[in-house]
Amino acid sequence: MMYSKILGTGSFLPEKILTNFDLEKMVDTTNEWIIERTGIKQRHIAGTHENAATMADTAGRNALAAAGLEPADIGMIIVTSTTPQLVFPSTACLLQARYGISGCPAFDLNASACAGFMYGLSIADQYIRNGTIKNALVIGSEVMSRIVDWNDRSTCVLFGDGAGAVLLGASEEPGILSTHLHADGNYKDVLYLPLATSQSPTFETVKMMGNQLFKLAVNILGDLFDETLAANQLEKSAIDWLIPHQANIRIIEAMAKKLNLPLDRVALTLANQGNTSSASIPLALDLAVRAGQIKRGQLLLMEGFGGGLAWGSALVRY
Ligand code: COA
Repeated sequence: MMYSKILGTGSFLPEKILTNFDLEKMVDTTNEWIIERTGIKQRHIAGTHENAATMADTAGRNALAAAGLEPADIGMIIVTSTTPQLVFPSTACLLQARYGISGCPAFDLNASACAGFMYGLSIADQYIRNGTIKNALVIGSEVMSRIVDWNDRSTCVLFGDGAGAVLLGASEEPGILSTHLHADGNYKDVLYLPLATSQSPTFETVKMMGNQLFKLAVNILGDLFDETLAANQLEKSAIDWLIPHQANIRIIEAMAKKLNLPLDRVALTLANQGNTSSASIPLALDLAVRAGQIKRGQLLLMEGFGGGLAWGSALVRY
């Protein structure tokens, strides 16, 4: 039986930080409101010299180094970004050139933003388990600051920039035990980003129905946990760590409660990073691994959701 295993993780955060107090000067909001309603205190913002490819580059190199591998070992690159530097070539192809390699499949994956990393991980897992490739680099890299309306207090306080990467490799030991992906296009209007047009050639900005999305997220994630545990014939007590998409602390708390997990068993980056969309799960994973919190052999439940709606989970023996 062949598995794909997480051999290494990496991440990158831009240096510039935007605090809630900074936002108080930009829109009609308060530090207290943002913390109470979202759990966010600050977020990182990419500089003009940074983009999805530069951030993915560093995150990917860190994951390679953690795995003890070289760029030449990569059998597939998937970048899950909805904020790429170019529409094409893909950020994954730009990365290939930056790493000085060529030939392996490289593509960007847009699973409606925030769920992207779960989709990318699942695809890489299939290719490794069926023996087509040995190693895959899966990276979420997002410059959300370039697609939010900085005059809209209901969305601009939520998002941040960053990248997170996972190097998956073939293993006879259990790694990814199962992945579960879903989507429901009927909820298009709950969260979307229109394309720029010739009439409006700059970026359009994120549109969101926050309250509806909040309720949908709590329901779909609860069902997703049940599905993931049932597929592996496991009880929730088996889970060591929840690695959630970092959208809102109240959603995360509800999910931890559903699993009977204390918050110190949840990888949390929300307060310092905000919602980095498809980068948030690998970022949270990498920081918890590097802090020595997540240890080899532990059982991780990852979950992500976002526009589409699209959502997904992975149960992983780290
Ligand atoms: N500062 C102060 N007030 C704000 C505000 C801000 N930054 N943003 C919104 N408000 C106001 C609203 O205008 C509204 O005022 P009103 O009652 O006078 O109309 C009030 O706060 C409540 O708004 P509401 O949208 O009901 O708040 P909420 O408790 O649902 O919190 C979110 C808003 C966006 C934080 C929350 O709905 C959320 O996180 N939803 C999920 C979003 C998500 O997951 N997005 C990413 C998906 S990948």
